[in-house]
Amino acid sequence: MKVAILGGTGAFGRALAARLRDLDFDVAVGSREHQRGWERGVELGVRGGSNEEILEGADLVILAVKSNATIDTARELNVAIGTTPVLCVASDVVFTEHGILPARDERSLAEELAETIEAPVASGLQSVSAIDLAANELPDQDALICGDDPRAKEPALELAGRLVGGRALDAGPLANSRALEAMTAVILNVNKQYRAHAGLKLTGIPGK
Ligand SMILES: NC(=O)c1ccc[n+]([C@@H]2O[C@H](COP(=O)([O-])OP(=O)(O)OC[C@H]3O[C@@H](n4cnc5c(N)ncnc54)[C@H](OP(=O)(O)O)[C@@H]3O)[C@@H](O)[C@H]2O)c1
Repeated sequence: MKVAILGGTGAFGRALAARLRDLDFDVAVGSREHQRGWERGVELGVRGGSNEEILEGADLVILAVKSNATIDTARELNVAIGTTPVLCVASDVVFTEHGILPARDERSLAEELAETIEAPVASGLQSVSAIDLAANELPDQDALICGDDPRAKEPALELAGRLVGGRALDAGPLANSRALEAMTAVILNVNKQYRAHAGLKLTGIPGK
């Protein structure tokens, strides 16, 4: 599978690219700046370039830009992305004096993304951190993926299943990204409260 990581110069994108490289995926990291993408690619031993350049021939696009740039970046690259499936990993959270909260009351970022671009969209990996991906061992977590379109959900599940020690689980329609994105706020609060490094693992799923 040929994977293009938009915003692959960031903490999450770099850790994901390195992990996928080690798993023998054909990976490319992108940046708003060609030179920065190319340099990160050289450092990581993967292809690199501008976000637009790395979309060429991709089987799956991972939208890993800073979360508040997700929608604008996708809108700008809509034509270049075309109908290539997109995995949205973003969460909208807000840091307040009372703690870290989900920033959205209604639609998730991933649903807004699906309405913005032509490509099929899946959502997931919000609870798998860059630190988890950079560890020696696969994280002892499940990866939950939701989506309405199997053209995006199936490759996303396939990829997610290689990234965790647990299972890649189909979490239903794209609207469930509301819960996945909000869970990031929960996990960040738990991490802060307990100086932890929490992840998700579901119980009671026979045969999985
Ligand atoms: N960090 C984690 O552990 C983690 C875990 C799960 C999911 N995620 C999600 O993964 C995504 C990336 O997280 P991150 O921590 O790697 O973020 P980040 O380091 O803050 O940003 C990633 C990249 O986004 C690009 N970027 C920044 N501002 C931009 C803008 N205005 N327009 C377009 N691109 C912009 C930058 O690349 P260039 O400057 O090179 O263009 C940057 O390297 C987020 O949606 C986050 O919610 C993160």
